[in-house]
Amino acid sequence: MSTRTVIRGGLVITASDELHADVLIEDTRIAAIAATGTPAAEAWTAERTIDATGKYVIPGGVDAHTHMELPFGGTFASDTFETGTRAAAWGGTTTIIDFAVQSVGRSLREGLDAWNAKADGKCAIDYGFHMIVSDVNQDTLKEMDLLVEEGVTSFKQFMAYPGVFYSDDGQILRAMQRSAENGGLIMMHAENGIAIDVLVEQALARGETDPRYHGEVRKALLEAEATHRAIKLAQVAGAPLYVVHVSATEAVAELARARDEGLNVFGETCPQYLFLSTDNLAEPDFEGAKYVCSTPLRPKEHQAALWRGLRTNDLQVVSTDHCPFCFVGQKELGRGDFSKIPNGLPGVENRMDLLHQAVVDGHISRRRWIEIACATPARMFGLYPKKGTIAPGADADVVVYDPHAEQIMSAETHHMNVDYSAYEGRRTTGRVETVLSRGEDVITDRKFTGRAGHGSYTPRSTCQYLL
Ligand code: URP
Ligand code: ZN
Ligand code: ZN
Ligand code: ZN
Repeated sequence: MSTRTVIRGGLVITASDELHADVLIEDTRIAAIAATGTPAAEAWTAERTIDATGKYVIPGGVDAHTHMELPFGGTFASDTFETGTRAAAWGGTTTIIDFAVQSVGRSLREGLDAWNAKADGKCAIDYGFHMIVSDVNQDTLKEMDLLVEEGVTSFKQFMAYPGVFYSDDGQILRAMQRSAENGGLIMMHAENGIAIDVLVEQALARGETDPRYHGEVRKALLEAEATHRAIKLAQVAGAPLYVVHVSATEAVAELARARDEGLNVFGETCPQYLFLSTDNLAEPDFEGAKYVCSTPLRPKEHQAALWRGLRTNDLQVVSTDHCPFCFVGQKELGRGDFSKIPNGLPGVENRMDLLHQAVVDGHISRRRWIEIACATPARMFGLYPKKGTIAPGADADVVVYDPHAEQIMSAETHHMNVDYSAYEGRRTTGRVETVLSRGEDVITDRKFTGRAGHGSYTPRSTCQYLL
């Protein structure tokens, strides 16, 4: 016998449609959708009815860029897979794609096994992995083929962080050539790390040690230059390219130009670049350290280009790059030397709400909200239509969202394992009410009803967004 749930009376929103409709769920999947009040919908019987009158019924968010427990700068991102996926669910996200890390001198397999072990049995929602490639060599290149076959179909490379994750242009070209053959998607951290390290050294020598100098040395031009170089290398290799955490107007321009030429070049931005700025990095008493991430926050003037890119589809995805470090004991490692502040911001719980606020503020439409936060990340990383939409056959990852509820974001009330909120005191309209993951309750009327271990590893197909 199957278990049936019906969600009645809400406004069902997908990337393509808005419809006052009832949604029938059978076990783990969506079975049918029918306009509210029609004989088809009225005929459904179910063990459970969720009344969504006045609410939105949306697909669970797909956050394609998180770093639970990431080792960085001598410490670890403070959310575990358990705490981080629980917080994600609170914020209406039902799938994350995290980054397994290859250590230099080790195999991709070792890195992937280690990350699988960290996540296994811990997650409240479904998850997949990208692979960070830190050491391109003949063995790594062969392993990439195997990983693509297994469902790890995207690989992050870094033009930044020399001596840690950094790849030179030759290593990047080789990985791109390989991905052109095996169907993998290269995700690029596009900043000229070699040049940045020179500027860091010079700034510190001048006694410029405060967090705000992190933003000054990691120049927009060096993001643009790296973005341009990555695009050209991808073009030479005949490979698609996805640029992560795009923050600078000049980098968006590079993506737009490449897309105008018809290249398979894609861009992601993050809520911190849309809502925060160098004003935050300049907060006194070392508070600016809370906002240190790379690419860095930019002057406010850059935000317009990011919103525009999201409307024109020169940027396709908003992910969080969730990589939390506590202020006390972690961000503080960089007192007196901004280059020692662990890089990363918390946000996995805030993304869907901040983007809904963007709907309220008139930056994007409701359907575009779902497209950039659910459908396109699912397509980009080979999870569609299982994830990212509400359609018969899709996983029943569904959020009942109250578009009128008001909230104030705060570390006092959030569920991420981090001692501050990057959005402390920010008022937003809209709030998650109920979250289902494969038909099971994770959040019920704003109470956590999920469990660690419900979330399962989800292998992915190759990119479904190519021209
Ligand atoms: O500052 C950031 N973004 N930390 C996470 C690692 C990365 O580069 O994505
Ligand atoms: Zn309505
Ligand atoms: Zn990065
Ligand atoms: Zn990241």
